[in-house]
Amino acid sequence: MNKKVLALVAIILVIVVIGIVVGIILAGNNKNANTVQNQASSESQEQNQEIGQVANNENQTNTEENQNNQESGSENVLVVYFSHTGNTETVANFIHEAVGGDIVKLETEEPYTDNYNDLLDIAQNEQNENARPLLSTQIDNIEDYDTIFLGYPIWWGDMPMALYTFLDEYDLAGKTIAPFTTSGGSGLSGTPSNIADEEPNATVTEGLSIRDNNVESSQSEVNEWLSEIGF
Ligand SMILES: Cc1cc2nc3c(=O)[nH]c(=O)nc-3n(C[C@H](O)[C@H](O)[C@H](O)COP(=O)(O)O)c2cc1C
Repeated sequence: MNKKVLALVAIILVIVVIGIVVGIILAGNNKNANTVQNQASSESQEQNQEIGQVANNENQTNTEENQNNQESGSENVLVVYFSHTGNTETVANFIHEAVGGDIVKLETEEPYTDNYNDLLDIAQNEQNENARPLLSTQIDNIEDYDTIFLGYPIWWGDMPMALYTFLDEYDLAGKTIAPFTTSGGSGLSGTPSNIADEEPNATVTEGLSIRDNNVESSQSEVNEWLSEIGF
């Protein structure tokens, strides 16, 4: 009888011990699973933080790009021109209206006569002598500009000599020069390549020429040229 009781107690004990051991093993597995799960979720949090940081960096880059675009906008453009009877000035104003930036009229220290025939002689003499008429116009901040629109009438198949004075006085290396002219019909007369000879380290774009009697109605032609050269 005692033996039977002892055997029963022993069996119960074995069952209890097995139950405890199984319980411990299961609890251990659960803990591991939780740890793996926690690790996974903290990794994904880190990834989210990294993604957030990349997005922030991208936003910052966009803001910096916008700022640069604003800085390299029309503030870097100068329209500089010579005009005796106002035709080239009209075209210069059309360009300035379209591209913004600054505009400067080149004036000579000694003004040219309003007598047309005398002016023809004076201009021809200056060309024959390769003269450099002095300019009263000074541009103190030429280094601020990346693009220079350079306008002039055609005088005797070339630029007025005052333009050569301008090109002598200012170093336009690294800048883009966009030449525009008005004339009685001679067109550009090869003047863009004369400009390129004077400023070998500048980029000279395709030029624009407008006939003097078409100046007033030339705005759309001006705008077409501007978009062709990238404005
Ligand atoms: C001294 C002088 C020389 C000129 N030489 C030429 C020329 O060689 N070819 C031409 O087509 N027009 C010539 N013209 C006409 C001018 O180029 C034209 O009228 C121009 O539009 C004037 O520009 P502005 O009003 O800006 O001064 C000449 C005009 C002057 C006063």
